[in-house]
Amino acid sequence: MKTQILTPAEAEKAAGILKGGGLVGIPTETVYGLGADGMNPVAVRGIFQAKGRPQDNPLILHIWSADWLERYCEDIPDTAYRLAERFWPGPLTMVLRCKKRTPQELEELKTGPVCSCTHFGPRVIPDVVTGGLDTVGMRCPAHPLCRSVIRLAQTPVAAPSGNTSGRPSPTTARHMLEDMEGKIPAILDGGPCTVGVESTIIDLTCDPPRLLRPGGITLEQLREVLGEVAVDPAVTRQMGEGEKPRAPGMKYRHYAPKAPVTAIKGEAAQSAAYILNRLSHTRWDGVICFEEFLPLFAEEEGPILSLGPAGDKGEQARRLFDALRAMDRTDVKRIWAQCPDDGGIGLAVSNRLNKAAGFHIIEL
Ligand code: TXA
Ligand code: MG
Repeated sequence: MKTQILTPAEAEKAAGILKGGGLVGIPTETVYGLGADGMNPVAVRGIFQAKGRPQDNPLILHIWSADWLERYCEDIPDTAYRLAERFWPGPLTMVLRCKKRTPQELEELKTGPVCSCTHFGPRVIPDVVTGGLDTVGMRCPAHPLCRSVIRLAQTPVAAPSGNTSGRPSPTTARHMLEDMEGKIPAILDGGPCTVGVESTIIDLTCDPPRLLRPGGITLEQLREVLGEVAVDPAVTRQMGEGEKPRAPGMKYRHYAPKAPVTAIKGEAAQSAAYILNRLSHTRWDGVICFEEFLPLFAEEEGPILSLGPAGDKGEQARRLFDALRAMDRTDVKRIWAQCPDDGGIGLAVSNRLNKAAGFHIIEL
């Protein structure tokens, strides 16, 4: 199969592929997603195959607006609507209870028309989307092209990040093509992603609400609306053997380039000096540093990439996955990376860098 790159004028074609049970790459403001019709279990199964994704890792559903929540969720707390009002459309995913079918609905299904994609499960959402959990991640994305596709398809779009499982998430159509060439019919090109790291995931089925993955909406912003917010341990440290993070995806090795990464956290000039002192001055060391420190590494033989200015964490978020992918196109044997502090979107950048480093992080 030849993977076609669709232009923004071809959103209708992308929606058509979804409605026909196919897979399509979709731009969102966070990262590119690998979309399928979330109500079609056969189509959704294809996502796991194309990504090489473990079946127990649930997908999130992308919807047009908070008005769609009641079709798929129940026991929706008031906090969900407050968050939606403030941050949707935008980079926030809420974990909510799945809506169950009534006995009468189940009966009607048995007597109604049946096709290969008819799903008879106890919940409105197919089990293949939720991994059999009784909760589901719901997100209302902001990217105008993504929104067009959802509106035209009139279905919730199940979409994980569009990378091969374990690789950095794609923030351009070209990244996604690197991973999905020949595996899916099309990728809709919506330009580079403006956030650059995945959505924030907040679990609203527990009290207090719990941050499962930091992302485009910051912990500080969530606390402004919700008051107390717990932070899942999987955000800041490696899960031990037998420990079960609440977001199943957080347990997998992730975002990892081929060469091992060491992340250095601390005052920017200090972390840059720390890295400089440990370089082998061969082409086997790669460095991802803040822009100000590029001159410090100018004499080095290996690739030196900028993560953006030390004071601009938004830019760091936009550049991180691209930098990790760029390192994979080199033959470096070790990668050193400067890491921002946890304030604002720094928590998301630091979380992704730490995961890329297998939590091999040095705090100065
Ligand atoms: O920004 C994003 O969220 C992107 C774009 C495409 O929308 N999507 C994305 O999907 O990052 P994915 O599948 O790569 O990450 C979703 C994460 C996984 O770690 C998964 O385990 C978790 O969400 N998740 C999904 N459903 C969940 C649930 N019911 N409870 C807890 N975690 C859940
Ligand atoms: Mg992912």
